[in-house]
Amino acid sequence: MNHALSQSPLITRTAIHGRVRKLAHDIIQHYGDDDFLIIGLMNGAFMFLADLCRELPKPVDIAFIKASSYGKSARSSGSVELVGLEKVELQQRRVLLVDDILDTGRTLSYVTECLEKAGAVEVLSCVLLDKQSRHEVPFDSHFKGFVIEDLFVVGYGLDFAEKYRNLPEIWTIRELA
Ligand code: IMP
Ligand code: MG
Repeated sequence: MNHALSQSPLITRTAIHGRVRKLAHDIIQHYGDDDFLIIGLMNGAFMFLADLCRELPKPVDIAFIKASSYGKSARSSGSVELVGLEKVELQQRRVLLVDDILDTGRTLSYVTECLEKAGAVEVLSCVLLDKQSRHEVPFDSHFKGFVIEDLFVVGYGLDFAEKYRNLPEIWTIRELA
């Protein structure tokens, strides 16, 4: 099936950069001098996390786990698969879970539950994008970049069938008739 990117970005590099700096500021305000562990969800969070952590003015611990619910299709399969958590030491840790986008909320809600069960004392989350109208479970992120409409977006880590993650802006993508 053929797809086309929007003619211009939905969110530009400049807008993303400004918002990421503000999020980093809010995160530091929250934690103050306390230690926290950032856990990024691969693959979608890689670019956002890389930019976000560079804006943090102190050393932080960073780990990655993989949670996939989409496979190669644009719609959620409804089940979340989690890989790599067994290697992360969570006892008594305050965790900031970072992901690209909050859609139905199933992924972050499930991962949060897993981290709490594994011993984390606090789990907050930070997403670049929030498709608020698509939430299906009662979950909200503590730090969020932009609330967007129900559009399929790519770029800045987000993919369509594993493509477009490298684009430095956020674009919408649509099916061609
Ligand atoms: P949720 O479990 O429905 O909240 O899905 C979250 C995951 O779905 C994200 O981490 C993304 O990988 C993927 N996702 C949701 N919406 C989009 C989109 O518009 N573009 C690319 N990936 C998306
Ligand atoms: Mg993802």
